[in-house]
Amino acid sequence: MKVIIVPSKEEMGTRAAAVIAERMRGRPHFVLGLATGSSPIPLYQELIRMNQARELDFAGAITFNLDEYIGLPPDHEQSYRRFMNENLFDHININRAFTHVPDGMAKDVDAHCAAYEQMMDDVGGVKCQVLGIGGNGHIGFNEPGSSLASRTRVVNLTRGTIEDNARFFERIEDVPKQAISMGIGTILEAESIVMLTYGENKADAVAKSLEGPITASVPASALQLHEDVTWIIVEDAAARLTLEWGR
Ligand code: GLP
Repeated sequence: MKVIIVPSKEEMGTRAAAVIAERMRGRPHFVLGLATGSSPIPLYQELIRMNQARELDFAGAITFNLDEYIGLPPDHEQSYRRFMNENLFDHININRAFTHVPDGMAKDVDAHCAAYEQMMDDVGGVKCQVLGIGGNGHIGFNEPGSSLASRTRVVNLTRGTIEDNARFFERIEDVPKQAISMGIGTILEAESIVMLTYGENKADAVAKSLEGPITASVPASALQLHEDVTWIIVEDAAARLTLEWGR
């Protein structure tokens, strides 16, 4: 695991964008795995800047998002499809038909999950997966207890995650209780992974994931099994690490 500890969110974003840009260059049909949440926003801002400055081309890029709430249509204010459009896709020269977010309104959701996996396979798999981490150590919507071998499927959100995400909805009752999420096994198949983390509320999950045992109780600890992970952490989220990571 390559751990980079940085002083600010802005630097987290520019360092992550540099890693991704280096991997994308010379590979016009690069397959990028994307995440939602506040953690990747500084990265998306930098990717937008690079694209607008013609330093990075997305014309042939293909993207797959980690997850989507069940029951929210794509244009819903809190859907992850809308988040991606507003925070990245609307501002770069990507072909919208090449961007994929699970469909939270799919009628046959199991078939949709299987088809989502198949689509990733058909384009040769994700080359670089962007991740954030939940306060309880979740990645995507793989809550504690998710099998380390899990694939794209329907998941139940924990009470804690529903409470965390309630700030984005008018009432807590409006927060969906289920989501579609790539599995931990799916995520681990990416050729490389870039994790972004900031905030002291993540310090415990970061320490457990990097320095604790590999366990389904802390889904992000599964990243220890992957050979090409770059984890960019702002100092506040690195406060509980005890090993000499990236210093
Ligand atoms: C949600 C998403 C995760 C994300 C997490 C943390 O639960 N499904 O992919 O990593 O939130 O979000 P934030 O970066 O806003 O703390």
